[in-house]
Amino acid sequence: MKIAVIGCGYWGPNLIRNFVQSHKIQELICCDLDPNRLERMKNLYPSVEVLSDYKKLIEMPDLDGVAIATPVKTHYPIAKEFLAQGKHVFIEKPLTHSHDTALELVKLAEEKEKVLMVGHTFEYTAAVNKIKSIVENGELGKILYISCIRANLGLFQSDINVVWDLAPHDISIILYIFGITPISVNSQGKAHFKDGIEDVATTTLNYDNGVIAFIHSSWLDPNKIRRTTVVGSRRMLVYDDIEPQEKIKIYDKGVEVPPYYDTFAEFQFSYRYGDIHSPRIEDYEPLKKECEHFLACIQKGACPLSDGYSGLRVVSILEAASRSLQLGGRSVAIQGLKSMKRKFKNNGNGFLMASSWK
Ligand SMILES: NC(=O)c1ccc[n+]([C@@H]2O[C@H](COP(=O)([O-])OP(=O)(O)OC[C@H]3O[C@@H](n4cnc5c(N)ncnc54)[C@H](O)[C@@H]3O)[C@@H](O)[C@H]2O)c1
Repeated sequence: MKIAVIGCGYWGPNLIRNFVQSHKIQELICCDLDPNRLERMKNLYPSVEVLSDYKKLIEMPDLDGVAIATPVKTHYPIAKEFLAQGKHVFIEKPLTHSHDTALELVKLAEEKEKVLMVGHTFEYTAAVNKIKSIVENGELGKILYISCIRANLGLFQSDINVVWDLAPHDISIILYIFGITPISVNSQGKAHFKDGIEDVATTTLNYDNGVIAFIHSSWLDPNKIRRTTVVGSRRMLVYDDIEPQEKIKIYDKGVEVPPYYDTFAEFQFSYRYGDIHSPRIEDYEPLKKECEHFLACIQKGACPLSDGYSGLRVVSILEAASRSLQLGGRSVAIQGLKSMKRKFKNNGNGFLMASSWK
């Protein structure tokens, strides 16, 4: 296959490294507006071609697809041009900067029967897949709430706030584990250094089944924290992505309310302090799995795990969070997703095609 990576800044080189190592790729092109970044890529990987103008890629008839790792607001215009020309497209998270642009790309990919994949890296981690199976097999009991913290010092972005930068990971993890979409979002935050670009925020996802999820995102924290806590009625789970070994711990802890009591003095919660168990999880680079999955989907004509629709769901929640930030934390309904009916038909190659949209 012949693939191009557009954007060789901070994140693009990670995609390039994995594509260079893939046996599925015969030709890799690195594209960036900055000649210094191209020179750096050429020095690191002498076998790659380099190019500054991505429009030249569109004209290449033998190019199979592109991976876009440019600033968020450029995702939509670049991806649209490649999909329109019948190329497969991978876009770094978040898919685009708005619900409408994300929906347009999803529909275009379906119309052209091309792969549209979003870089929700955590859906490819062994830890998140383990948590998904633990939640699905009921080990934690009824899920009461989820709490995610993703904090560090920097990296400040100039075009997007901390919610658009860090929360896509947590939102995609939550959606992937639970499958269902929240009904509304509240988000509160503060821009300390640049007007309109919040550097710390707490976003709450409200579900109609009573589950609530809290996402704390910060570029202004002395510690690097990557922690997800899932509290169930039977057990509690903590996923710490910074931990090198025991990333997941399941606590047999909980609270029990007495079934009946006659006087207030008799009323007492009982707390259960049981064992702590850390399941074994596989050790591999999630990004390698993600890049290989993109290439395999192109080869098989299959719908990716993190497809355009999955990217659209995350973007819709981010957009509602931005609106809520502007409204000082008021609840904002999530646009369109609940009422959106997608009827699937299979094109015979595994592609899920939406045959009707509302
Ligand atoms: N999956 C992850 O964990 C992860 C982590 C970091 C960043 N990201 C995502 O990766 C994307 C890039 O982020 P970054 O931190 O690398 O940004 P960056 O600013 O460091 O790099 C972007 C690069 O794109 C280049 N560029 C901009 N417009 C271009 C164009 N029209 N044609 C060619 N090149 C162009 C810039 O010159 C720059 O080198 C963002 O969408 C970000 O959200 C994902």
